[in-house]
Amino acid sequence: MKKFLIIANWKLNGDYNFINKNINLIKKKINNSLHFCDLSIAPPYVYLNYINNYLKNTSISLTAQNVDIHLKGSYTGEISINMLKDVGVKYVIIGHSERRIFHHENDNFISKKFILIKNNGLIPVLCIGETEEQKKQNQTEKICIQQINDILKISDINIFNKTIIAYEPVWAIGTGKIANIDEVQKTILFIKKYISSLNIKIAESILFQYGGSINYKNIDIFLKKKDINGFLIGKTSLTTENFIFLIKKTEKIISLLNVS
Ligand code: PGA
Repeated sequence: MKKFLIIANWKLNGDYNFINKNINLIKKKINNSLHFCDLSIAPPYVYLNYINNYLKNTSISLTAQNVDIHLKGSYTGEISINMLKDVGVKYVIIGHSERRIFHHENDNFISKKFILIKNNGLIPVLCIGETEEQKKQNQTEKICIQQINDILKISDINIFNKTIIAYEPVWAIGTGKIANIDEVQKTILFIKKYISSLNIKIAESILFQYGGSINYKNIDIFLKKKDINGFLIGKTSLTTENFIFLIKKTEKIISLLNVS
């Protein structure tokens, strides 16, 4: 069974006070009790190095919220993959709807990032998912496959080996509107089958996450679906006590599922 992976996506939030309190509490309350669930923190760029030092000698890893497609040069304001490696990053989130919407990142640009991350030894977390309008038009599966196919236009299926795909319906992100669990399961299974039709081994190596308004109260039902192997969590990760409760709950439920 794949290990569960929870990524705390802090987005544009946090400061030194928050980090000191949050990471200390997480280290104290959950670091040694994680056996079935991996945890990763995705703070804003400027805090990656500081948090990396905090996380040394723990099982908690570091995720970046973005990366540039260039390795170096005159690209004011950008951060390269090697810089992320220097500060201990393991995963890089790309294709998040907030970057697609507010920074106008298109599928071709996101595909280039995906390939760059993979070819440089880090793990891309590719966010895909439909908007509310697309959902109304029953286009969920079509949109997800299209977003995957854009990567396949410039690379082959092997690029997906041991990567992460986070299914995040755009309308569920930060809105409190949780997606229907059966629909999430159906969509993830559809994506998995599509990738299996190209290469079964690669499909099996991918870790599928769900993201969108997950909190400690609604996480239970998602944990019981075998095709969902983790979560990308925004808002709830900003309230330390609730987040710790969510992690503990996840660890407990997964351990029980593993035994039964
Ligand atoms: P949310 O964010 O948990 O606040 O909905 C999820 C995400 O943006 O990945």
